[in-house]
Amino acid sequence: MKFLNIVGTAREGRKSIRAARKIDNVFQDQGHETFFYDLKEKNIPPVGNRTYTDEGPVPEDIQDLREKILEADCIVLVVPEYNHSYPGILKTALDYMYPEYDEKPFAYVTVSGGGFGGVRALSHLHDVTLEYGGQPGPDLPVSNVSSTLNEDGEVIDESYEGRFESFAEDVEEFVDRRT
Ligand SMILES: Cc1cc2nc3c(=O)[nH]c(=O)nc-3n(C[C@H](O)[C@H](O)[C@H](O)COP(=O)(O)O)c2cc1C
Repeated sequence: MKFLNIVGTAREGRKSIRAARKIDNVFQDQGHETFFYDLKEKNIPPVGNRTYTDEGPVPEDIQDLREKILEADCIVLVVPEYNHSYPGILKTALDYMYPEYDEKPFAYVTVSGGGFGGVRALSHLHDVTLEYGGQPGPDLPVSNVSSTLNEDGEVIDESYEGRFESFAEDVEEFVDRRT
């Protein structure tokens, strides 16, 4: 399968990149192809011309994202919780598109510095996924990210051993049931 892993924040020093590295590695270890789309490396201007209108050209990095979305079997959003929701830059990037999401499976890795694992961001992501016409799938909330994963995305909290792997298996099964 092909997984599009979107890193949902561009903040300098962000810790959720660790979870993104981890899940990307796990999908690859399980024999899947991944695209790693890091918003920090992209130029994402405020929503202007959308992909599905004749308003004019869309930014190159959005065009690239569009192609990856169309190609992917599942979009995996790796997202920190910011003020009980998810980062605005992610919404900006995703809102450039609409028909591209039709029945597309989504999965979520939400991240927090504290103990709640970003579950309030997750709830908003579910709502938005449904509005896009996508299909909300499995989620993995990651709490206390600094003591759960190291810089390289390796699990350092033994209570998380195997959890990324079983999440990835759940995602595969979820996508399989839909194809
Ligand atoms: C603007 C901002 C808002 C935040 N709001 C929340 C929040 O509402 N709930 C929460 O659990 N953590 C919140 N955090 C802390 C993040 O969970 C923490 O920074 C964690 O490391 C994941 O985000 P990161 O990838 O930006 O590091 C916030 C962090 C920032 C930068």
